[in-house]
Amino acid sequence: MTKHHEYFVTCAPGVEQTLFQEMKSLRLSSVECQVGGVYFRGTVEDSWLANLQLRTAIRVLRRLKRFQAPDDDTLYNEVRGIDWSPFLDADGEFFVDAQCSESNLDHSQFIAQRTKDAIVDEFREKTQQRPSVAKENADLRIHVHLWRDRCTLAVDTSGDSLHKRGWRKYQGRAPMAETLAAAVILLSKWDQRSPLVDPFCGSGTLLIEAAMMARKIAPGSFRQFGFEKWPEHQPRKYKTFRENILAQADWKKKVFLFGRDQDADRLDGARANAETAGVGMDIQWDVGDALEFPFKKRWGAWVVSNLPYGKRIEEEGLQELHHQWGNYLRRECEGYHISLLVGERTYAHALGFQNWDETKLRNGSLRCSLVNVDL
Ligand SMILES: C[S@@+](CC[C@H](N)C(=O)[O-])C[C@H]1O[C@@H](n2cnc3c(N)ncnc32)[C@H](O)[C@@H]1O
Repeated sequence: MTKHHEYFVTCAPGVEQTLFQEMKSLRLSSVECQVGGVYFRGTVEDSWLANLQLRTAIRVLRRLKRFQAPDDDTLYNEVRGIDWSPFLDADGEFFVDAQCSESNLDHSQFIAQRTKDAIVDEFREKTQQRPSVAKENADLRIHVHLWRDRCTLAVDTSGDSLHKRGWRKYQGRAPMAETLAAAVILLSKWDQRSPLVDPFCGSGTLLIEAAMMARKIAPGSFRQFGFEKWPEHQPRKYKTFRENILAQADWKKKVFLFGRDQDADRLDGARANAETAGVGMDIQWDVGDALEFPFKKRWGAWVVSNLPYGKRIEEEGLQELHHQWGNYLRRECEGYHISLLVGERTYAHALGFQNWDETKLRNGSLRCSLVNVDL
């Protein structure tokens, strides 16, 4: 019988429900929304699917064990009791990431150290060899999570964070994470057929994610995952699985996306990023002021954008920009759906809409709001 495992898929705060919907559409089983992510039960193939297809997920963690760990000796013994050989060779490299709250063991570095000791001692006893620790490019990343002395131990099937899609050659200044951009597009309820405009497009993240979504290009198409380095991995089976998913991309569809930014260098970067992602033909770019974008009256289209954030000094100018942008949209965009990611609550008010839906999100460490309005 095919073995099932427990998985926890992490996401940015505020994105849990959107990720939950994505996982339901992939028909993953026993999907349950929790704080900071979504749980599911599934096979190894399901974890391949989750890594390749989920647009708003940050990591797919496979839970190995849950136990009470009121002290470090218990933690050590529980970790030693695990067979690590499916995930790591005796001469491999690994990294332990620990988090704790409201627990007796309250020092995350010490928790990581004791976990590491247990793994190394286990290998040394069984093989007379020991794996080493490496933060970058480790063959295995292990997550230890302690809450109220309850320890959850998991292996990270993703490896690098899933926001690293592999298409971003140009970074730009403060680009939004690809996973957040995907969440914004999904929360905008874009129908994936109508035109979509981002007049403050920067490095193009929203438009590239939108194009990939419309074309059903798997977000994991361009990268490798942590599980590919594990001894238990079946590369031939995975190759066929991955090829089947990549073959689902729809290259015939007509996609109409428009990006504008006042900064020509950023637009060059955005263009290069879109080419790498294979969606260069879907996006028309131009340099210019968002407040002069020639919106066409006949479009029942979407404006989805991430407005400039500011440091304290720039705040007054930004309030004014939000105020003018709100006025411009009301004047030029009758019938449009508007989704704007803005820096904080005051900016949402500065846009001057009467009623709007608001979703609280985080862009890295910045608190922000996604304002949705139908004009
Ligand atoms: C927060 S960034 C957008 C980041 C983008 N979402 C990304 O992932 O790279 C805001 C962008 O708005 C542009 N911008 C600021 N004021 C503008 C204006 N009046 N017209 C057009 N672009 C503007 C900036 O050059 C910057 O690239």
